[in-house]
Amino acid sequence: MFATTKFGKANAEMGRRLFEIRTVALVSQKQLMSSQKDVNVEDFFKFYSDKSSHDDRYKPLSGADYDRFFSQRSALREPAITRQITSLSYKVGKEMISLAEGMPNEQVFPFTSLSLETKSSTFKLEGKALASALQYIPSQGLPALVAELTAFQNEAHRPPKLPRDIQVTNGGQHGIYQCVELLVDVGDPVITSEFAYTGIHAALKPYKAEIIGISEDKDGMIPETLDSVLGERLRRGLKMPKMLYIIPTGSNPTGTVITEERRRQIYELACRYDFLIVEDDPYVFLNYTDRHTPSFLSLDTCGRVLRLDSFSKVVSSGLRAAWITAPSPLLYRLQLHMQAELLHSCTLAQAILLHLVSCRKTLASHLMGARDFYGKRREALNTALAPLAATIPFHKPDAGLFYWLRVPGVEDVYNMVFHTALQRGLMLIPGHAFMPYNAPCQYLRLTFSKIKYEDMDSAVRTLAELIKDEQQKTLQKPKRLATEG
Ligand SMILES: Cc1ncc(COP(=O)(O)O)c(C=O)c1O
Repeated sequence: MFATTKFGKANAEMGRRLFEIRTVALVSQKQLMSSQKDVNVEDFFKFYSDKSSHDDRYKPLSGADYDRFFSQRSALREPAITRQITSLSYKVGKEMISLAEGMPNEQVFPFTSLSLETKSSTFKLEGKALASALQYIPSQGLPALVAELTAFQNEAHRPPKLPRDIQVTNGGQHGIYQCVELLVDVGDPVITSEFAYTGIHAALKPYKAEIIGISEDKDGMIPETLDSVLGERLRRGLKMPKMLYIIPTGSNPTGTVITEERRRQIYELACRYDFLIVEDDPYVFLNYTDRHTPSFLSLDTCGRVLRLDSFSKVVSSGLRAAWITAPSPLLYRLQLHMQAELLHSCTLAQAILLHLVSCRKTLASHLMGARDFYGKRREALNTALAPLAATIPFHKPDAGLFYWLRVPGVEDVYNMVFHTALQRGLMLIPGHAFMPYNAPCQYLRLTFSKIKYEDMDSAVRTLAELIKDEQQKTLQKPKRLATEG
């Protein structure tokens, strides 16, 4: 649970009293009732386990313990006085005469009304509420939204009681970048899965990080491998990683969902080898199984998890609606980064996000709809892929948007993807996109989110032909003789 610090309380209070976004939700009751008939909100938003996570062996990190994790760059950041004043102005709780802030006067803004229709309600901003939604806010985010997200995380993840806080970000990618900047110095080792989301590699590239890729099977990252790799580094006196980046649900690209047992094992390794976990979970609402797998946040008894949530895949990718939940000392430094980088993420987008998360039932109902929508596509692509199953090993993903295929008999799919497939009008992503270095790769990632149903069979037929041709080419390639140099 988030410890209710003085600051946390003030935040919630501030959210209620000071930020004047009053959403005029003109909900058609009939529509709402029909869309929410069978929604069990608590069950849908259950990302915690009923089993205790307490482990006597490891103590929670305290404020000063985090110092060893900060990158040199992050440690140098200092608060901007102007940003502090903005936060203060939202906190004081009464009208103040201000000669302080560099805020524009809302009377010059040209907008008078904003209305957004959702499938079940109308979200309308006018007058003072609209002016506030177009104004500067504290770097952490819209106070009312921060309070709402705090409540949401507490309900959905039930994290162990420690001082934690939330920062609204411009999408999950922004969160990834901020975590890298917070924790990584040039040349540092960083743990990821063997194939990892392109965005983490893009963020790490300029840091020349040593990426320790841990292999996965159908249940995600293998803790025994992680343990043996870290144990070996320790024995050899190599620099130890401070950060593990992981996508626990519907991994991009492999589609795996890490089991509860493995999550617990990986968390225990974080405590034992002293690293922090960046849990990037944008596919958490797209879990097609009926298992309630606890998030790393929910297991975080020691304050080692920075959790990234994003609504990009289920609400809107363009809205950039996302947030980081992290131990307060880490979040404080992330806020300093935000002050220097963006001041804060878009207020209007945050006002819309607030509207969406405020009614859990409507939100759950929408997210269930999104999950069903993608679930049907997952099934359809599975049916289309069925004829390949005998020769091409793949698993139906338990969550997310991707099939991950190994193409046997083809050493490297690069040529196939960028030459022959394009020539035949099929776009594919090669596994290379998810590797931190250049090497031959046998994997392909297939996304089922947008392809038309009627195109699935023909896409798979073309893919089968391409693979057959590529396998033939590999067979026909003259083998190098052992005597050749
Ligand atoms: C695992 C993962 N993290 C982060 C992102 C970026 O998402 P956002 O739109 O929230 O920045 C993606 C997008 O594909 C993703 O797959």
